[in-house]
Amino acid sequence: MSRNERKAAEGGESAGRIRAGQGTRRIIYAVGGGLLLYAIGLALFGDRSADRENDGIETPEGRMVQAGSEPVHFTPPSEDTIPDGPVGDSIRRGRDIFANTPANAGEFVGNELSCANCHLDNGRRANSAPMWSAWLGYPTYRGKNDRINTMEDRIQGCFTYSMNGQDSPSGGPPPLGHDVYKDIQSYMYWMATGAPTGAKLEGGGYPKVEKPELGYDPARGAEVYAAHCATCHGTDGVGQRDLNGRPVFPPLWGPESYNWGAGMARIYTAAAFIKANMPLGQSNRLTDQEAWDVAAFINSHERPRDPRQAGPGLTVEEAYERFHKGDDIYYGQVINGKLLGTGTPVPERN
Ligand code: HEC
Ligand code: HEC
Repeated sequence: MSRNERKAAEGGESAGRIRAGQGTRRIIYAVGGGLLLYAIGLALFGDRSADRENDGIETPEGRMVQAGSEPVHFTPPSEDTIPDGPVGDSIRRGRDIFANTPANAGEFVGNELSCANCHLDNGRRANSAPMWSAWLGYPTYRGKNDRINTMEDRIQGCFTYSMNGQDSPSGGPPPLGHDVYKDIQSYMYWMATGAPTGAKLEGGGYPKVEKPELGYDPARGAEVYAAHCATCHGTDGVGQRDLNGRPVFPPLWGPESYNWGAGMARIYTAAAFIKANMPLGQSNRLTDQEAWDVAAFINSHERPRDPRQAGPGLTVEEAYERFHKGDDIYYGQVINGKLLGTGTPVPERN
């Protein structure tokens, strides 16, 4: 099944409910014969959370958001409004973990990344999967693990894959219930101060970029990379460090990057992130085609293995069948004579 077919199959039930919901509204409209009654009907019935979960479109990460309702504009509070006292202390700890994860939650980080490398401005930047928007979206169902996810589950996911928890000193993400989650959630909750629960906010997630006519091609992407990315991220994708060894420009592939199970390893997700956020400070500088091609280029290099393969001891082929089949990802494919997905050597940590 292709990704779209799978999406269609997964969306089968919800598509039915969308039709049912629209039908109800049409009936209200017809009976009332007026816009006012329609508006009242919407206010009374249009806002039920059960409907919202299904009456929607799929975001890049598989979450359902409400369709047909206008996204609400939102600006997160400024940092100088973080309160004093225990809550404020937790918010500040959460912010610091977010900004410099290896320094402040290093036990659980298996690469050189921080949350803020992919959720820019410490999770405040619109179109960079900002935390104020994410806060409103959980608990929710995720196809990735086929169950309802709390916010804690979701953050654990980013530790497992984006932060490559398997190669951290503790050997995994923070266990559920750990203070790291409390502090990050305090920070997120504070950032969403005043946001209407259940609304869809403008600038949430990474704006989807449709697959361009020419598909994607890492060879074309290599040219985009040389022209627009290599100055900061390095010709070999390992990024750049300051004199103290702290990453200034984060790595894009290799052992210190996100692993094969991460959202960013999928070409459409990386294309969405890149189009809106890279080159740094130049949103939408690249065409859709360039964004897909360069996403293909960075994701056609080896990176830490998928923990879902390594843990249960599956072969790359088995893990491909189970987790990646039909997806726009190079996992399990042979590129330049090399099978991708076998993983990079685990770096020594001191
Ligand atoms: C001016 C320097 C600069 C340029 C040019 C640049 N980036 Fe970045 N990039 C950064 C910085 C800095 C971050 C981390 C952002 C933060 O922490 O605020 C980043 C983050 C990223 C990330 C997410 C974090 C990671 O390491 O996986 C990706 C992916 C990425 N850039 C891809 C690209 C691509 C592709 C291009 C070229 C189209 C590009 N960047 C051009 C500086 C740059
Ligand atoms: C390598 C890039 C990367 C890093 C590092 C990263 N994330 Fe993410 N994060 C993503 C991507 C990509 C998504 C979108 C979901 C997907 O497609 O998997 C996401 C989604 C999320 C979401 C859900 C957003 C929403 O709107 O539903 C939360 C919450 C989140 N990340 C928190 C974190 C936290 C906390 C950290 C640090 C511990 C972190 N992320 C580190 C890439 C990253």
